[in-house]
Amino acid sequence: MCGIFGYIGKNTHAEKLVFEGLKSLEYRGYDSWGIAALDGSGQIKITKNIGKIGNANLDFVKKSNMALGHTRWATHGGVTVKNAHPHFDCNHHLALIHNGIIENYASLKSELIKKGHHFISETDTEVAVHLVEEYYKKQSFEQAVFSAFKRFEGLNAIIVMDHKTAVFAACKNGSPLIIGRGDGENFLASDAYAILPYTRRVYFMEDDELVLMDSKKIKVISLKDKSLKKVNFQKVDWSIKNEDKGDLPHYMLKEILDQKFMLDYVVSHQDESIKKFSQLISQSFGTYLVGCGTAAYACLAGTYIFSKVAKIHVNFSVASEFGYLVDYLTPKSLVIGLSQSGETIDLLDALKKAKAKKAKIGSLVNVLGSTLYRFSDHKLLLNAGVERAVVSTKAFTAKLAHLLLIAYYLSGNYQEGKEILKNTISVINNLLNDKQLLKIKDLSRRLSHQEHIYIIGRGASYPIALETALKIKEASYIHAEGFAGGELKHGVIALVDKGTPCLAILPNDETYFDTLSGVMEMKARGGYMIGIGFKNHEVFDEFIETGDCQLASIIPNVVIGQLLGYYLAVEKGLDPDKPRNLAKSVTVK
Ligand code: AGP
Repeated sequence: MCGIFGYIGKNTHAEKLVFEGLKSLEYRGYDSWGIAALDGSGQIKITKNIGKIGNANLDFVKKSNMALGHTRWATHGGVTVKNAHPHFDCNHHLALIHNGIIENYASLKSELIKKGHHFISETDTEVAVHLVEEYYKKQSFEQAVFSAFKRFEGLNAIIVMDHKTAVFAACKNGSPLIIGRGDGENFLASDAYAILPYTRRVYFMEDDELVLMDSKKIKVISLKDKSLKKVNFQKVDWSIKNEDKGDLPHYMLKEILDQKFMLDYVVSHQDESIKKFSQLISQSFGTYLVGCGTAAYACLAGTYIFSKVAKIHVNFSVASEFGYLVDYLTPKSLVIGLSQSGETIDLLDALKKAKAKKAKIGSLVNVLGSTLYRFSDHKLLLNAGVERAVVSTKAFTAKLAHLLLIAYYLSGNYQEGKEILKNTISVINNLLNDKQLLKIKDLSRRLSHQEHIYIIGRGASYPIALETALKIKEASYIHAEGFAGGELKHGVIALVDKGTPCLAILPNDETYFDTLSGVMEMKARGGYMIGIGFKNHEVFDEFIETGDCQLASIIPNVVIGQLLGYYLAVEKGLDPDKPRNLAKSVTVK
């Protein structure tokens, strides 16, 4: 969600540097953006815009050594220039950017209006800058930011620029904030990767910390008791791979195609992590897999995988619900969070509640250094590579591949699991050829005018039906629903009418004939039946053959769902990398 970037130092075009920083945060999802810069005469200048950053003109300021920028994903107040950050105080002496939600903003706002403050936006954020302004009348800048932040309810991160002291103050409680220490220059950002092109010395701010920063000094104090904190900057050696989409039209397509390399990496490089994680699970009493959206579907798939392969029971919950289910956790419980970004607030919140019950916290996470990565007692880095498209693809299959290998390790048949995944790589290689892509593109063209698409699957293919539906919804805005095949007769079949497109996922397993019966029943009601699986059947109007890689067939089968989502979006003239209303990192509740 909102991206934050701040710079202070020797560069005389801080606004340009911040602009580049914002570009690297674009993937998080946003609908407007803005930059504030302190100019040579000590005035704060601001530019704000709706829509994409593109190649914007930055002549709102001539020179600057201090700037902050923000990409906004609207929560309070529509997508307008007025609502975009940064926000000014009444006198334009302070500029503030914010990530999060100030839950008690309404009462603070009426208090400030009574004191004569003038508001121009509909945001909760503007309250923050006026509250700092109010305290700054009688307190130092540091104390004023401290006093204001302490009054916010909810999970928030802010950076405030002060024209008088030429200092940044930033606080955090919930949303991520990373400090980068350079040589005669310092940085703040909501993502470490945004800072890495400039410095590798970083500090991940903890909750309830306030930092004061100029080009040389960085002072961190506790928001709990105002004590000065000793900060150890760590040198990170993470590689910043060029994850450009090259000649491909979209990151989503690149990331779908990347899956063969990702699987190859998992099979050949993750033995140690898989072994450690398997041991952790076998030592625990009660394992819970939790995640949101696509990650939740990987968790659900995990329950089938562990049952089938390792013959052990693991529990599943959507992370936003797990917080209401923690009462039965004990110190022997293991709660594993699955996440691409490692910043999803619903997941982090649930895991905090689990930690409060003294449960062990594990994670399968794709972003090194993310909040989840740092929060977990035991972490397994997915190593799927950077995912830029908002619609998650390769991180999902990376989670499936790891869950499969962990389950095989637990069953004592690890080598067999690896062989199955190797076979999956060749099946995927076959799938991702030009002829097959054209076939799915053609099907998407014919389906693109549809209002509804239904998908059924059973067993481990049930979460794949759900995930296929999510890909179609997110990327193409077509209403798609995934169902457990067995639920058809319990209500769902009422939706099937003449010509309704229905997808069925049929791997070569125990679900085949039951799912096929469902297909017959849908066909009998006029459904236009599209099969995905290892062998065609006359009942299908169309069939996409994916191959047979035993339980790992869920991987090639979901790749078809991803491609359908992608090509449906393209056919409808939509940008599958940045669907409306969605953000890559969901950092607010
Ligand atoms: C995936 O396509 C979605 N955009 C979304 O459901 C996502 O998977 C979910 O928000 C969880 O994100 P995470 O994996 O970064 O925690």
